[in-house]
Amino acid sequence: MNCKKCGVKAVINMRQHKLGLCKEHFLDWIPQQTQRFIEKYSMFAKDERILVAVSGGKDSLSLWDVLDRLGYHADGLYINLGFDNGTDYSLKSQQCAQTFAETRKLSLQVVAIEALEGFSIPEASRLTLRGQGRPCSVCGLAKRHILNRIAREQDYGVLVTGHNLDDEAAVLFGNTINWATGYLMRQSPVLEARSGLARKVKPFFRFYERETAAYALLRGIDYIHDECPYATGATSLYYKELLNTMEAKQPGAKLSFFLSFLRAKESGFLGEGSSDDLRELRVCQSCGQPTTAADTCAYCRTWEQIRSRRPKAVEGRHT
Ligand code: AMP
Ligand code: FES
Ligand code: ZN
Ligand code: ZN
Repeated sequence: MNCKKCGVKAVINMRQHKLGLCKEHFLDWIPQQTQRFIEKYSMFAKDERILVAVSGGKDSLSLWDVLDRLGYHADGLYINLGFDNGTDYSLKSQQCAQTFAETRKLSLQVVAIEALEGFSIPEASRLTLRGQGRPCSVCGLAKRHILNRIAREQDYGVLVTGHNLDDEAAVLFGNTINWATGYLMRQSPVLEARSGLARKVKPFFRFYERETAAYALLRGIDYIHDECPYATGATSLYYKELLNTMEAKQPGAKLSFFLSFLRAKESGFLGEGSSDDLRELRVCQSCGQPTTAADTCAYCRTWEQIRSRRPKAVEGRHT
């Protein structure tokens, strides 16, 4: 397969687009497409202050790189979740994010959950009912809360994440087989700001994971290759495998699944208010962040519960 633009040997064949590209043209194509998606889905403007949620992985670092190349003003935020027991996952991923920012002179904030709340995510997960099995739910809750809080407190116009098509299609698959209509209503590459919730967008949602990985490798970005230590056996990985099996037989299946969903939603398939979550939001009496609960948000309730269960030996670590 040769490059469609210049005819030299292609480094990547994107079967869903019937498009092969050489290194140089692929490294141009990714930012061009990103800019096209930013405009097509009205994601953000050139003068907006953008906060990129950076995990140290290929998607978020490639996204930050592309936004910088396109001339956007994008700062990074890395959350250290404390996944270091035996794996050094957090330490390594933080180093990748910091090295990336330093070499490009970009601004990166680092927030460590242990410094903020007194416990790492694995410790917290063990101390709460939410931690039965994997720490994913308390981890997801903490990430959503901290990202939103910092984006709002520091007046960023938009919060961007590195979710790619494989992530989005797997979530859509899970939501569809469970007919989780509430989640289906909220699944979108652009979530508008409302009552205390920052605007959230996913500029890479149309790229396949292999494309963001190829971009990171070809740009020489040093990213953490390991998955989160708790990912093994996760349902989302199983859904990704199923979708990859479909994709192998029918190139473009993943993209078409997701884009058809967006079109169906747009045409009112999910009923009134399909592009927004219409549940009323209140203000958490403890932290001031938005919540659907009557008084205290899930994040505050979870940490209260964790602190109430802390073993005597760690009393006083958090005041
Ligand atoms: P994941 O849920 O790990 O697939 O990550 C999806 C996106 O969430 C990433 O592309 C990042 O934009 C963001 N993200 C994940 N983990 C972190 C983290 N520790 N700190 C900041 N952002 C994160
Ligand atoms: Fe949060 Fe895996 S449990 S990233
Ligand atoms: Zn070429
Ligand atoms: Zn709260």
